[in-house]
Amino acid sequence: MKSLLKLHYGAALGEHLTSGVTTFQELLNLAPLIKKADALLKSRSELKLEGSGWLLLPHKKDKKINDLAARLSSMTDVIQIGIGGSALGNMMLHNALLPPYWNEMSPTLHRPRFYMADNVDPQENRAIWDRVDPRHTALIVVSKSGTTAETMANFLFFWEEMKQTVGAEQAARQTIIITDPEKGVLSEFAKERGCAVLPVPPNVGGRYSVLSPVGLLSAAVLGADTDSLLEGARKIADFLTAEHDMEENPAWVFAAISWLHFIRKRNIIVFMPYIDSLSMLSEWFAQLWGESLGKEGKGSTPIKALGTIDQHSQLQLYTEGPDDKLFLLLHVSSLKEDIVIPHAEEKSLASLSYLFGQSMNMLRYSEQLSTASSLVKAGRPVLWLEIPELNAFYLGALIYLLEYATALTGFIMDINPFDQPGVELGKEYTFALMGRSGFEVQAQEVARFSKNLSSRTITVSIEEK
Ligand code: PA5
Repeated sequence: MKSLLKLHYGAALGEHLTSGVTTFQELLNLAPLIKKADALLKSRSELKLEGSGWLLLPHKKDKKINDLAARLSSMTDVIQIGIGGSALGNMMLHNALLPPYWNEMSPTLHRPRFYMADNVDPQENRAIWDRVDPRHTALIVVSKSGTTAETMANFLFFWEEMKQTVGAEQAARQTIIITDPEKGVLSEFAKERGCAVLPVPPNVGGRYSVLSPVGLLSAAVLGADTDSLLEGARKIADFLTAEHDMEENPAWVFAAISWLHFIRKRNIIVFMPYIDSLSMLSEWFAQLWGESLGKEGKGSTPIKALGTIDQHSQLQLYTEGPDDKLFLLLHVSSLKEDIVIPHAEEKSLASLSYLFGQSMNMLRYSEQLSTASSLVKAGRPVLWLEIPELNAFYLGALIYLLEYATALTGFIMDINPFDQPGVELGKEYTFALMGRSGFEVQAQEVARFSKNLSSRTITVSIEEK
């Protein structure tokens, strides 16, 4: 038997906590509530209800993904156009599974460079377009709804540029659409132009879609092992579906502890991995956690942190600031690369001898343990989540666990973790401001609310020369 992942949770409970002691017994007492939430999640999935389709994603991979990936992997460049759940998962997978500075290495690895066009930023879009060779560039356009204004504007830009350069027929051959099979303009466009299409399964929401074609296609194009990714997710899914006691189930314990601290006004979670390859996991998790749980006046605010950098930026606040946070430190037990810190002969460097000959990974691990210990000393709750190595298999397990724990936490909070009415309102206001018909009421609302911005103003003027 080998470990798939470990959740150490002793430091998130107990007497060391500055205020509002949470005990192991209290955690156990939550079992009926957690089991109810778990049963709700599973029954929603069986009934194929809105938002719950992600539970089954590890069990099915669209066969077209590999064929398309093989076709696209001979391109020099791939531009993905998407935002939020249609972008962050891709960047997280690439960051974790590809070598650092991927784009610089891609010619020797014979795989394309990759660019993400997510924000609405003309300078960025032009810079991307200036770098690629349109004849050997693929566009992957991802939007579940097929309506998001940011993605549609970026798509219109790149599509037009591509069409102008290689002609409409060739541009269509180089464009892949990933969208809801039933709604939105993108599937209509794909039909009109004959582009290849992959579905975002209708009952999978954006932030839960990384294990669908949304995340898998670009990862496969760039050579990540997507089969192992799904296998890892399947392993933890099988574990979570089997019968376990409360204290043996990492998703239950994570959700229960989040809840116990949430009701004690610790409604912030600091998500802190310790290697650069997992910095985008924090970005992805922040969307998953923030957008799933932040509604009806409830929620837990995710903070994207990265050790060791944030020790020198945020740890002061974390240990001596307000006691309103739960900490999740993420540890990878064994890493392929290491550096033995060199001995230096200079007399001036003699005081650094405690570092000479030591492993750089050991230094980082010591930093992580020091941070955890400082937090415990300060009476703050700490979860320590650990995977044995960083590869596709363990990453798949980690992703699925985080999704599962997030969804469960939502049900315990008695909110729907799969909708995002606040995001939709923002989208509608944008449509209204851009003059889209059918959004006249929203246009009036924006006019009314945005007046508040300038109801009091300070202008600092300088004399013109
Ligand atoms: O999680 C969600 O549903 C959202 O954050 C979406 O991912 C985001 O708004 C982009 O939507 P779409 O893929 O429909 O363009």
